[in-house]
Amino acid sequence: EKFVVIMAGGSGTRLWPLSKEKKPKQFISVDDGECMLVQTINRVCRSVPPSNCFIVTNQSLVELTKEVVKDIIPYSNIIPEPRKKNTAACIAYTAILLEKRLGEAVLCFVPADGYVKDKLGYTETINLAFRTAEEKNSLVVIGINPTYPSTAYGYIKVDKGADSEEQILKVIRFTEKPKEETARLMLEAGDYLWNGGIVAGTSGTIINHIRQHISEHYTSISKALIHEGSEKFNTYIDNAYNEIQDISFDSAVLEKSKDIYVIRASFDWDDIGSIDTLSGTLEKDEDGNSWKGDYIALQTTDSVIYADGILIAVIGLDNVIVAGTNEAIIVCPRGRAQEVKDLVEIMKKNG
Ligand code: GDD
Ligand code: MG
Repeated sequence: EKFVVIMAGGSGTRLWPLSKEKKPKQFISVDDGECMLVQTINRVCRSVPPSNCFIVTNQSLVELTKEVVKDIIPYSNIIPEPRKKNTAACIAYTAILLEKRLGEAVLCFVPADGYVKDKLGYTETINLAFRTAEEKNSLVVIGINPTYPSTAYGYIKVDKGADSEEQILKVIRFTEKPKEETARLMLEAGDYLWNGGIVAGTSGTIINHIRQHISEHYTSISKALIHEGSEKFNTYIDNAYNEIQDISFDSAVLEKSKDIYVIRASFDWDDIGSIDTLSGTLEKDEDGNSWKGDYIALQTTDSVIYADGILIAVIGLDNVIVAGTNEAIIVCPRGRAQEVKDLVEIMKKNG
């Protein structure tokens, strides 16, 4: 049987102040529709029934998750982790838990923080990932054609030129978030794809990889899961999460494994890495401003205006970002929205 697991326990600093620790990126709407998490659920439910769609998130986000998920999937499909411990922990815990509950199954882990317009293309790609995972008994990831030397993505070296027609390719090497110089070389080489953040595999294959490459995760989590259902389980899983390393599945497993296939994605995709990228998803007015919420703009052009529960009024701006909630507002030139994460760091330090 096939199951999709949505990883929705990330932190929310890059879209601050629209997102924040208590309301990370996946809870934000970046177009005129639902938030990214709900859109992700609706998208994956074209490949599996809602009862086969799980959401893993940390305990502190469970209430908010229930609120937005409403009755689309059963609440019992929300799997709480004791805390945020990165995607290796998230995937290890869920794979071992689901295999215990459901037996051998094919799992597809998807991020909750990406934006996809082409629903049909996404569905076709996910369905092909499920089939490939079963046929090849390997891990399967999704590759996107790279367009610039981003340092925010994983890079996948494939055994054919990136312009080859084949859709299923063997992965030669996986490199998580390279430095800019390396990213540039990889882009020029022409045989690299970006990692779309999706991982599929049979539960057996995924668990074998975890055992082999992050044995501590495997041991600690398996030991805790012996007590699943008992009163003490929370303490056991809490302790397991204290013990294990905070590392991404990409760095811990994908960079090490020799047994990965990649499916070239046939859908458009955006990771919404900064408020600037909202210019590609929000509605546009006749002056080229991308906008959401209540705003008034006089003589303002090519700007991004996102008003969440407040009114934003601007005069005479060009190429500026103005985005905010009733708690905080960011104003900066377009092209500098990446630096928001430096701001958030400073605020953290200052308490
Ligand atoms: N449940 C849970 N627990 N989910 C988590 C945790 C955790 O501890 N940490 C992160 N997530 C979720 C995030 O909410 C997101 O949906 C997904 O897992 C990926 O985590 P990110 O933190 O957003 O990763 P990234 O964007 O820096 O990098 C990953 O995605 C890129 C594509 O967007 C990597 O897979 C890259 O290789 C990839 O290119
Ligand atoms: Mg991400």
